[in-house]
Amino acid sequence: MKWRALVFVLVTALLCLGFGDGVREQSLREAAQGSGMLIGTAVRPAQLSEMAYSSTLAREFNMLEPEDVLKWEVVHPERESFDFSQGDQIVDFAARHGMKVRGHTLVWHQQNPKWLTDGRYTSGELAQIIEKHIKTVVGHYRGKIFAWDVVNEAFDELHVGELRSTIWLNQPGIGLAGNGSSYIERCFRWAHEADPQALLFYNEAGAEVVNPKSDAIYAMVRDFRQRGVPIDGVGFQMHIEKLRADVASISANIKRFTALGVQVHITEMDVALPVDPNGNPRPEDLQMQADIYREVAAAFLSHPGCTAIQTWGFTDKYSWIGSHSKKTQGAALPFDRYYGTKPAYDGLRDALERARSR
Ligand code: G3I
Repeated sequence: MKWRALVFVLVTALLCLGFGDGVREQSLREAAQGSGMLIGTAVRPAQLSEMAYSSTLAREFNMLEPEDVLKWEVVHPERESFDFSQGDQIVDFAARHGMKVRGHTLVWHQQNPKWLTDGRYTSGELAQIIEKHIKTVVGHYRGKIFAWDVVNEAFDELHVGELRSTIWLNQPGIGLAGNGSSYIERCFRWAHEADPQALLFYNEAGAEVVNPKSDAIYAMVRDFRQRGVPIDGVGFQMHIEKLRADVASISANIKRFTALGVQVHITEMDVALPVDPNGNPRPEDLQMQADIYREVAAAFLSHPGCTAIQTWGFTDKYSWIGSHSKKTQGAALPFDRYYGTKPAYDGLRDALERARSR
């Protein structure tokens, strides 16, 4: 009978629209719409062929960042050759799904190829090598990558507040050792020449709160802004351990950086939990983790200068935390190993929904 077919079509349509058992819940990316906040995640290209991975990625996020494949070791494997194949895969995925792309990272002391670290280059040669690297990589993605982590983790952990000894600063360095952050400045200027439209970020670990490391970064950024060095933003990684986040201090830190006129991004958020040998966390820790995601995101959403919140991966199936901690920690992300949402996901989404009207 015709009317039966009509009822069937109507009911199916309503179910699809989410009128089945209550209104269909919004994805993170839908919740972020209207708040002006970008919601992103780090991505590994090998996983894009996994349906659950790619569909979750496209549904939940409006920004992504290659986790590893734009690092020197991958993108610049020989002195005279570049390999953009994996980076291009991710950038194409983003274009197909209307997502923005952050670039990570042009200058770092890790994941550099042997030809570079063992090459015994002079400072002059190194300066030429890094200038070519920055201009080639940024140039390749000109107009496709909207923001770059130009320099990553340049400040030291042990001698807090001081620049880290690296191949770029003083081993042997690009000829600017003893001149403070001059080598960093030079890298920002090269990146700006390669793509004047790209937003250029300094990215750092363990500097999200007010502490001696963030004090040193603040001094550098203030100096750069005063002298017209092209820096547009600061990335706070936000790898949170021990279920502790000093949100008041994070907020104060954001306030002083945004007052300099730079944007602030959360670039690598995860909240590591202790896990049993099967990788399972304690249920009560999942709730505390959710509170941290909610509170940190809410702090970011309350500052107009904060423009992106990014997690370091999205499913516990693929996260650096497991191998890094010899499997004693994990479960750090908003989705579990089976792509189910966790309380952390709800915390993040609550914060985004509440901020819609900011
Ligand atoms: O590419 C090789 C592959 O050929 C080889 O078969 C495999 C065997 O282990 O290793 C692969 O390289 C790994 C690489 O990731 C790519 O997956 C390295 O071993 C592994 O050490 C590397 O780890 C990455 C780490 O940075 C070092 O680059 C993590 O995935 C990545 O999450 C982590 O990300 C960093 C940020 O860039 C900067 N901030 C801290 C953050 C966490 O450490």
